[in-house]
Amino acid sequence: MAQLTLPKGSRPQPGKYFPSKATNKHIYKIYRYDPDGGDNPRVDTYEVDADSCGPMVLDALIKIKNEIDPTLTFRRSCREGICGSCAMNIDGTNTLACLKGHDEIKGDVAVYPLPHMPVIKDLVPDLSHFYAQYESIEPWLKTDTPAPTRERLQSKEDRAELDGLYECILCACCSTACPSYWWNGDRYLGPAILLQAYRWLADS
Ligand code: FES
Repeated sequence: MAQLTLPKGSRPQPGKYFPSKATNKHIYKIYRYDPDGGDNPRVDTYEVDADSCGPMVLDALIKIKNEIDPTLTFRRSCREGICGSCAMNIDGTNTLACLKGHDEIKGDVAVYPLPHMPVIKDLVPDLSHFYAQYESIEPWLKTDTPAPTRERLQSKEDRAELDGLYECILCACCSTACPSYWWNGDRYLGPAILLQAYRWLADS
């Protein structure tokens, strides 16, 4: 089996332990990294009272930040699977923290940032390159004909062509799970941006 050696400074160190007196609790192991501190990343362990926590992983992260460790940093906004900002790697899979339930996970809950992206802090990846790639496809409608005096009508059949395309929320879960994107992300747009490009090309 291939042996990988992590660069100096990138190997996670054992982290802090935050115990709880609760009898029913979830154990969270969360990647922590603060570039300003100059320390290696670490994995902190939090015991979270399951009886006073909402059902989703995002609920636990918010509870940890509010009640246990305010230094924990992550993105979130809509809490409804719409904005894509809470994308992270949970239990080994890229997913949205607001849609991932505790009951879907057996044992301790491992939470890491999206893989193979630079990390700004803790669970926050730097998506600048991803967004620059999105901008590069010019994601808007273009027409060859002059603007009409009324709206352009679209047939139901043409509209159906966009099903499966327009729903993408650009969370970057798929692109950051793609090995081709890991190794060639500087030249390869990745699945999310290619899907977006097709969405604008396919729109009649
Ligand atoms: Fe918006 Fe999770 S918080 S998708």
